[in-house]
Amino acid sequence: MLQRPRRNRKSAVIRDMIQETRLDASNLIFPLFIIDGNQQKTEVSSMPGIYRYSIDNLLREVESCLKLGLKSFDLFPNIEESLKDKYATESYRDGSLYLRAIAEVKKNFPEACVVTDVAMDPYSSDGHDGIVENGEILNDETLDVLGKMALAHAQAGADIIAPSDMMDGRIGYIREHLDQHGFSHVSLMSYTAKYASAFYGPFRDALGSAPKHGDKKTYQMNPANSKEALIEGQLDAAEGADFLMVKPGLPYLDIIKLLADNFDLPIAAYNVSGEYAMLKAAIQNGWLDAERSIMETLLSFRRAGATAILTYHAKEVLEKGWLK
Ligand code: PBG
Repeated sequence: MLQRPRRNRKSAVIRDMIQETRLDASNLIFPLFIIDGNQQKTEVSSMPGIYRYSIDNLLREVESCLKLGLKSFDLFPNIEESLKDKYATESYRDGSLYLRAIAEVKKNFPEACVVTDVAMDPYSSDGHDGIVENGEILNDETLDVLGKMALAHAQAGADIIAPSDMMDGRIGYIREHLDQHGFSHVSLMSYTAKYASAFYGPFRDALGSAPKHGDKKTYQMNPANSKEALIEGQLDAAEGADFLMVKPGLPYLDIIKLLADNFDLPIAAYNVSGEYAMLKAAIQNGWLDAERSIMETLLSFRRAGATAILTYHAKEVLEKGWLK
């Protein structure tokens, strides 16, 4: 045998030397849930170890993450039912919970990178990402709401705006709207290939944002398809996206690789709530080893071609010193 691949695996030093991909704190974005009130910290029951924070506690949480070297955060609001309406007007109301949270984090920790979520669902009385009329999701009318929401996030201090709604044309619309108002420096991380997935369940529990009727299949992608991901990627790149995101992560590693191979923009992977819940449940039962299963999962996103990884495991991997 001339080729003996095991020679390159024979010692830890050599294994390390030839390791192709690595995970670093700089790759991680930590999603954080926000609720109204003071001194609130309530656990999401389907996501053990993940909490909804009132703004005071959110600031404490961000501070403790920064000390660990975790510098990027994606914020999501849990909005009281009484503030929701058909047009998600709470999403751009001056003084709203979400806008205050963005501004407070940036005021207290200017060095933190704040990613904000643009979509109507947490604020919509229909629980959808677009305006609903006679059971239909109106695309172009929704763009107007998304534009207002994105501008409000930029004014509050967002570093990166991440539209997660899947309406057609929203990246170009938001880009132009931001540029016209003097926010050409604010980045767009597009949820480029976002699938109609069962794995968002725990997130919808966290925010109380599940659709009140119907599903999201007329705007989120069919899990059976990959070519559409290329169409979405071409549109987002042409419309001015700075990052292309694939979501969920683990069941869509092929899509991460497809976009990484076809586009020069950085690729983000969203290791979503259901993926977190799945791993946590097995770990809590003693069926999987926490460090090994979590690190293997996160490394798989890097190997597939993602640079940025949105993951609920972000803080824990740093706290426990698993990033060597
Ligand atoms: C909403 C949004 C969702 C997630 C991020 N933004 C859920 C959905 O589309 O219903 C899911 C994140 C997760 O599951 O962790 N626009």
